[in-house]
Amino acid sequence: MKTIDIRRSIRNFKDTKVEKNKLEKILKAAMQAPSAYNQQAWEFIVLTNKEQLETLSQMSPYSKMLAKAPAAIIVLANQEKMRVPECWQQDLGAATQNILLEAVEQGLGSVWLANAPFEERMQYIKDMFKLPESIVPYSVVALGYSDQKNNYVDRFDDTKIHYDKW
Ligand SMILES: Cc1cc2nc3c(=O)[nH]c(=O)nc-3n(C[C@H](O)[C@H](O)[C@H](O)COP(=O)(O)O)c2cc1C
Repeated sequence: MKTIDIRRSIRNFKDTKVEKNKLEKILKAAMQAPSAYNQQAWEFIVLTNKEQLETLSQMSPYSKMLAKAPAAIIVLANQEKMRVPECWQQDLGAATQNILLEAVEQGLGSVWLANAPFEERMQYIKDMFKLPESIVPYSVVALGYSDQKNNYVDRFDDTKIHYDKW
């Protein structure tokens, strides 16, 4: 799939608003992800407010680009909706990847910013949004238009493939 091939982490953004309908398409893609027992125990906080994006950029040394991003999506788990709690991180990983891929489809750049399992980064978001106990942050995706283009990098490595035996 071309979208998978060309998706890149993009960390420089133009000061252009991301249209609401594009954000909605991206959220729709997130919710199309597979999840264990189809539990769909995800929630999303969409940020477009400059001040909040600036605050969130201080979540870790590796999330500074949020200060210049026009939008971000925080992917969170709702523990009250979990039927297979052991699998929540896989589910939210799939949802996060769908966000990155739909961003490419929408002509945007994006980058996945680690939150879980780093306790202090998770606590930062819990404090920032005064999250209820049952809501657990997982990842943050910075989003926006960029001069940097999504482009293909070949990572195929046949030494990593093991047919029928190790
Ligand atoms: C779980 C996870 C956490 C990541 N955390 C960060 C991060 O905190 N900051 C950042 O700039 N990039 C982060 N990235 C992006 C990776 O650095 C990037 O995916 C990797 O270098 C490969 O480049 P590509 O996405 O362009 O293929 C993260 C990616 C993943 C999957």
